[in-house]
Amino acid sequence: MKAIAINASPRKGKNTEQLLRSALDGAAYMGAQTEFIALYDLNYTGCTSCFACKRKGAESCHCYWQDDLSPVLDKVLSSDILFLGSPIYFGDITGQLHCFLERLNFILMTYDDYNKQLFNGRINTCLFVTMNVTKSMYETLYEQPLLNKIKPLERLGGKIKLYGSYDTLQFDDYTKYQAAIFDEQHKKKIHEEIFPKDLLAAYEIGRQFAQ
Ligand SMILES: Cc1cc2nc3c(=O)[nH]c(=O)nc-3n(C[C@H](O)[C@H](O)[C@H](O)COP(=O)(O)O)c2cc1C
Repeated sequence: MKAIAINASPRKGKNTEQLLRSALDGAAYMGAQTEFIALYDLNYTGCTSCFACKRKGAESCHCYWQDDLSPVLDKVLSSDILFLGSPIYFGDITGQLHCFLERLNFILMTYDDYNKQLFNGRINTCLFVTMNVTKSMYETLYEQPLLNKIKPLERLGGKIKLYGSYDTLQFDDYTKYQAAIFDEQHKKKIHEEIFPKDLLAAYEIGRQFAQ
């Protein structure tokens, strides 16, 4: 059993990374081998339309483009559990995760038949998103578009889950920034009282996925 976490936040050790590490800990508790990959440490592009993966005789579900992401895609497809993590940027996942998903989704589909299942394995997948907005704003504005975004990952053959962590702590010291719309006391209270529950929930998802 192998679990991979892909961090699409540029901030090391912050909200998104903490959730991913907690999910990996849950999977590790059940005996999974774990690996953490930071997308912002890698040099890569989105799909370049080289179409090498669509050539007759091409290896199924393999990205032929050569950059730092290519070996990561191979690793992902040889795993059993995939945790993706992204902060919300302008109502969406980060550009880095978009590029990752372009590459992954394209090798999972064929122009012979959009409904054909190319990938033979089963990878349980969870996208963790962290954000400034509250739960109700998330549910109104972001949740459905994000569910649509991860739907193509059904091609991985496993469970698909979306987990939101709201009202996150963005700065350690809000007084150093021009950020009058945020109430530092409120943010710190959420971080101390709610965020630990998100970490526990992530751990539980990791544990269940590895069962
Ligand atoms: C460029 C940028 C755009 C952002 N846009 C949004 C947004 O549209 N909605 C939101 O709720 N939070 C937004 N945020 C806040 C982050 O999503 C939030 O702080 C997140 O928890 C950061 O994750 P991290 O601590 O792992 O980096 C934005 C932050 C940045 C830097």
